[in-house]
Amino acid sequence: KGLRIADKGYLNTAVMRSEITYIDGEAGILRYRGYPIEQLALHSNHLETAYLLLYGSLPTKYQATLFEEEVLHHGVVHSDAEQFFRSFRYDAHPMAMLTSAFAYLGSYYAEANPSLQGQTLYTKGSPESLAIMDKQILRLIGKATTLAAMAYRVRQGRDFVTPPTGLSYTGSFLYQMDHLGQENYVPNPVLERALDVLFLLHADHELNASSTTVLQTGSSLVDPYSAIAAGCASLYGPLHGGANEAVIRMLISIGKPENVPAFLEAVKRREKVLSGFGHRVYKTSDPRSFIVRKTADEVFKVTGRDELLETAMALHDAAMKDEYFTSRKLAPNVDFWSGLIYRAMGFPLDFFPVLFAVPRVVGWLAHWRQMMLQDGGVKIWRPRQIYVGEGKREYVPVDQRV
Ligand code: CMC
Repeated sequence: KGLRIADKGYLNTAVMRSEITYIDGEAGILRYRGYPIEQLALHSNHLETAYLLLYGSLPTKYQATLFEEEVLHHGVVHSDAEQFFRSFRYDAHPMAMLTSAFAYLGSYYAEANPSLQGQTLYTKGSPESLAIMDKQILRLIGKATTLAAMAYRVRQGRDFVTPPTGLSYTGSFLYQMDHLGQENYVPNPVLERALDVLFLLHADHELNASSTTVLQTGSSLVDPYSAIAAGCASLYGPLHGGANEAVIRMLISIGKPENVPAFLEAVKRREKVLSGFGHRVYKTSDPRSFIVRKTADEVFKVTGRDELLETAMALHDAAMKDEYFTSRKLAPNVDFWSGLIYRAMGFPLDFFPVLFAVPRVVGWLAHWRQMMLQDGGVKIWRPRQIYVGEGKREYVPVDQRV
């Protein structure tokens, strides 16, 4: 009654005001707190950008150093977490492990849950509240890489690695992964920087499905670990963070460039999806995809060209010329090229969504923090529906049903 719109997929519903990320989908523009993504990718790094997203301005040198130190300091997780990771099946998907691990982490920090302290909410303007909130933010960003590396190593039956000191955020992550298995592993600076740029590009993207999920979940005033776990679950799907994995599976299934036309015909018959193409907001181009494409060339100089690159380029070029895709304004998104980089760097295929989730923790937390501190407090997100089911019916006992 009184409800007239069922906006399936929220195509035209703005649920809040935000100062974090600006997207112009027609012009292909993405800005974090006003800074063009191209400038940040060129000059900034993931942790500096994380500070920007969370707190609204670029940090001073002192603030940047302190923030980095604090995040890296919080990289260590309780040794009990080792048991937790070892309880998974040997072939568990790393996103299933990471999602669970975020929720598990929350069980360690009672102070993150205001209702356990007899309060209902983080109180705006209260320095104690803010300090508690920001502590959880540091913990979650710091521990995200450690949990991800643990999810990786447990499947290989390898011991876990304590986060090192003296390395950058992505350097420490690569160290903990030690994915090439060398002794005294020192990350290759080109790969470390490439991963950092990819992290920065994935740090936020306004109210995508997972960020919305974090806010929806957080609106019940649950602790941030649970809200981040919910966001992580949402990101797992192939229409969202799982797309980078889906792109590589698609390219493997296509095989050689000469098979591209037949694949595109199958997409047009709606038998297949062109993964890594299309976006809810971008209707001309995704500015991140150009930066990822450039980064891929840097990485390939170190790792050698991925054999799927030719197929990816053939697919890209053919789709961009095809009326079916151009008329629907379908262009490559951030996931089209990123999987090729991860593959070249040696990450296993099902780990790709983890490489999206870890940096996105920053955006999730920026949105969560903004919502918790908004004027007037948090309002629980409780949408309505338009009921189209049966009218009133009388209950029939089971032995009388036909
Ligand atoms: N392949 C084939 N057709 C497509 C694709 C695609 N990848 N994307 C959209 N279309 C078609 C769709 O069938 C529809 O056609 P029609 O109007 O004839 O029914 C038209 O284009 C409009 O698309 P839509 O489904 O209304 O678009 P949406 O905004 O609901 O969906 C999307 C956006 C990203 C879910 C979708 O484009 C998609 O499934 N892409 C592939 C998965 C992917 O790459 N996801 C990563 C997104 S970017 C990173 C992230 O944020 O996670």
